[in-house]
Amino acid sequence: MRVSIVMKNIVLTGFMGTGKTTIGKELARMLHMRLVDVDAEIEGTQKMTISDIFATHGEQHFRDIETDMIKKLSREKNIIISTGGGAVLKDENMEALKENGIIFCLNASTETILERTGRSEDRPLLKVDNPKEKISAMLSFRRPFYEKAGIMIETDGKTPLEIVQEIMEIIRCRK
Ligand code: S3P
Repeated sequence: MRVSIVMKNIVLTGFMGTGKTTIGKELARMLHMRLVDVDAEIEGTQKMTISDIFATHGEQHFRDIETDMIKKLSREKNIIISTGGGAVLKDENMEALKENGIIFCLNASTETILERTGRSEDRPLLKVDNPKEKISAMLSFRRPFYEKAGIMIETDGKTPLEIVQEIMEIIRCRK
């Protein structure tokens, strides 16, 4: 029988491009837990990409379905939940996630985020003329939300394995 070392959900938050998906996959592999990505679940149920939801229905509509999905996933146990970068903006989301989960917030510099997000086309909020300026402004506005969201994990200059080990060590110490 396989016994997992945690029963609570592990929640990964943090700005776009801070590595939530990469770290989530690695954590899931190491801890034999299921990774559930909030955005991927939304795309699956809405049968639309996040970009199309933003373009067709607007950001507010996306935020409403995001909250519904977060509340639904928060009721599950022993899974890893990777949230979209804006999930921290609503207390409602964080309260639901906290009820049954230990929350980590991945952090990275503007430069790292720019480099990591520059390669993808699927982030509607960063489809602007000057993404660096946008990232920097959004980070400044969101910083207080990220800081109070959960345990802050710095990712700059670290390998995914180092980050995963750091998270696993924290989980072990909290048991
Ligand atoms: C958003 C982050 C995205 C996605 C949407 C909005 C945000 O998720 O939910 O584009 O407001 O930061 P990732 O953080 O997984 O890119």
